Formats: sequence, structure tokens, C-alpha cells
Amino acid sequence: MERTLSIVKPDGIKKGLIGEVIRRFEAGGLNVIALKMIKMTKEQAEGFYQVHKNKPFFNSLTSFMSSGPVVVMVIEGEEAIKRNRELMGATDPREAGKGTIRKDFASDVEKNIVHGSDSPETARWEIDYFFPEEELFEYENPPCLPDGHRGG
Ligand code: RTP
Ligand code: MG
Repeated sequence: MERTLSIVKPDGIKKGLIGEVIRRFEAGGLNVIALKMIKMTKEQAEGFYQVHKNKPFFNSLTSFMSSGPVVVMVIEGEEAIKRNRELMGATDPREAGKGTIRKDFASDVEKNIVHGSDSPETARWEIDYFFPEEELFEYENPPCLPDGHRGG
């Protein structure tokens, strides 16, 4: 079992995609074990994306990420980090594979609907950035029905 952090970015919220993103996680066998809506301050977004502080897009990215509410989630499952990034698709929607969240909904390389942690170390750090341990709730994952909804 692995955990990763997912964020539905401000463009995803404005496009009404909270449910669609969660549906794809659940249909893909990933459990949402923590979830909340927040509006980051610029400083909070800068702290979260500090690995990118020397990138030319840092100011634009952190302004965008603090421009409106986001939904932050912890998702859990086998190979959750890799699985989530597969569901998201490449950073640039023009390069994202068919059927991925970014291919289907993203408008450009910055406004690309979702964030997902990129390694186990990053996932731990990012989960910790938003969630204390008592806000994480593990539960059994009943088998999926053929349409992706769960039985049990
Ligand atoms: P994320 O961290 O949001 O899950 O996305 P990622 O791993 O696919 O991409 P990363 O390289 O970590 O970049 C973080 C976010 O910065 C924005 N970005 N803008 N203008 C640009 O060239 C550019 N490149 C990246 C995107 O919002 C990207 O998701
Ligand atoms: Mg990244």
C-alpha cells in the first residue's frame, strides 16, 4: 500500500471537475483517505512548490495555485504514486496520453487540473504539508463492480 497527495487545482474546481477526478481515482482502485477544500496563500503555495523556486514559472505557478480554492486529498492504493500519475497524464496536456485527466480537461502546461506527488519521499513530505496524521482514514477497499463503482 502506498499513499500520495493529489490536488484538484483552481482550474479544476472552476471547471466542475472535483467529482470527475475522484471518480477516476475510485474507479482505478485508489481510496481517498483524506480530503479538504482550502485556499492557499501565496506563501503557502511557495512553500509547497519550493522545489521549483528557481524555475522561470515559479511566480506564475504559485500565483495560480493561490488564486482560488483547491481540493487537497490523500489517496491510497497499490503503487498509488505511479497509478495517480498515469491517471493524470503528462504535465503538458498536448503530450498527455489519451483518456488521462490532463488530456481530457487541461487547457495548458500550467493550468493542468491536478497535482500528484512524484516519489515516496515527496509524497510523505507533501501529505504532511496539509494533513496531520489524525485526518487520515484508512478503510478496506471492496472489489470494484464492472462499471468502476464499488460493491460490498
Ligand atoms: P505537479 O507537480 O503539479 O503534479 O505537476 P508535474 O509533476 O507534472 O509537473 P512539475 O514539473 O512538477 O511542475 C509543477 C507544475 O508547474 C506548472 N508548470 N508550468 N510554464 C511551464 O513551463 C510550466 N511547467 C510546469 C504546472 O502547473 C505543473 O503541474
Ligand atoms: Mg511535480
